[in-house]
Amino acid sequence: MRFAEMRRFRRDPLGFLENLRRTSPVEVFWLPWGGWCVGDTGLALTVLTDRAFNAGMSGFFGSMLPSRSAQIDFGRAARAMLRTHTPEYRESLAVAVSEMPAVTRWPAAGVELVYRCTADMLLHPEGSPELRRLLERNARVGALRPARMVERARAQVLRAELSTALNEQIRDRLGATGCTAEAEPRDLLDAVIGACPDGVADTTVAQLYGLMFRSIVGPLGYSLAWSLLLGGLHSPGAPWPWPVDRVVREALRHRPVSWMVSRSVPCPAEFGGIAFRTGDQLSVSPYLLHHDRDRWTEPWEFRPDRWNGPGEHGPFVPFSSGPFTCAGAAVAHDLVTDAATTLTENTTVRVIGGGDTRPIVTNAATPRPFVLRRTSTTPARARPSPREEVRS
Ligand code: HEM
Repeated sequence: MRFAEMRRFRRDPLGFLENLRRTSPVEVFWLPWGGWCVGDTGLALTVLTDRAFNAGMSGFFGSMLPSRSAQIDFGRAARAMLRTHTPEYRESLAVAVSEMPAVTRWPAAGVELVYRCTADMLLHPEGSPELRRLLERNARVGALRPARMVERARAQVLRAELSTALNEQIRDRLGATGCTAEAEPRDLLDAVIGACPDGVADTTVAQLYGLMFRSIVGPLGYSLAWSLLLGGLHSPGAPWPWPVDRVVREALRHRPVSWMVSRSVPCPAEFGGIAFRTGDQLSVSPYLLHHDRDRWTEPWEFRPDRWNGPGEHGPFVPFSSGPFTCAGAAVAHDLVTDAATTLTENTTVRVIGGGDTRPIVTNAATPRPFVLRRTSTTPARARPSPREEVRS
């Protein structure tokens, strides 16, 4: 990408993408960082759902699992584990939110809250204390998005330490009796070990666990942060006038954390008027699909009440669509809604300063840093908290 383009992209990534689509004479346009993006909504949905683009294995797992059926079983095992442990997650939320200071820095606070409340599901409390410590640090570092070289180097060291501790824990569990596919998983690591077919190397099991850890904590925390930011900006200092699940749904529409999903072109073919070779990358942007003015009413507006009735919905794909849809979509939506509900119950939220809803885009589209003040609306709790310091 040229320097000027890079600057424009950094300043407003989604505006940059919209501009590429608007100025492209064809329905599939070239992305300056490589590959192609399908601008037309109908064609984009074809890429996500058509058998030709979605046969064989899912790229999400790379080559870590041996077959599509192993990938599907793996996704189901992770989802089932989260579902089973949702009641404990809700209990942890109540405690964690009651201990939160009134003023918090986001999106880091969202990722930390999600991590804190899923920590026992990710690694049960009797798991290795060293591994637990490293997972916690990893979640924090991920939330802060290391920008400087020295921070990135530290993050790399942390990843290496995590990998060593994870491999040790996997060896211990596989060596101990009781960690088999049949036993009820106590945490995500048991679920991952149990879902890996025989022959998958321990180091690959560790990588799969890392992949799921990143796919759970970050996307949930950032989706929660978008919900609080957008809900807070649109009802400043007042209780939300919408049901929380509609705020979450609308935040997932307006600012999908997964802003791009990609597919490889399976064989030479013409698509959207362009000739593609095998292996070319075609991307679909949930953001563009969610802002197609032919499919949505006032797509640029944050309007949770658009979800009141069945009438005016266009394609809603924050978790993608088709055969490779996110295995955890429904449970993820529930976990974010539970957290947003606990944070806003009898409470008003106000976004202090900012109001800039352009995301920072890496693999995920995350909110720019913002500060949130939560104020209880119940008289007994309305007194100022002695711990009203800003914490991130
Ligand atoms: C807000 C949170 C989440 C978002 C936005 C999200 C989004 C996505 C997206 C866009 C994909 C790629 C689909 C594609 O390539 O078409 C995906 C795949 C996947 N996600 Fe999620 N996800 C979230 C949470 C979770 C959770 C909690 C789980 C735990 C079960 C999970 C498990 C998976 C799996 C296993 C896949 C691979 C599916 C396959 O290829 O078979 N995700 N997710």
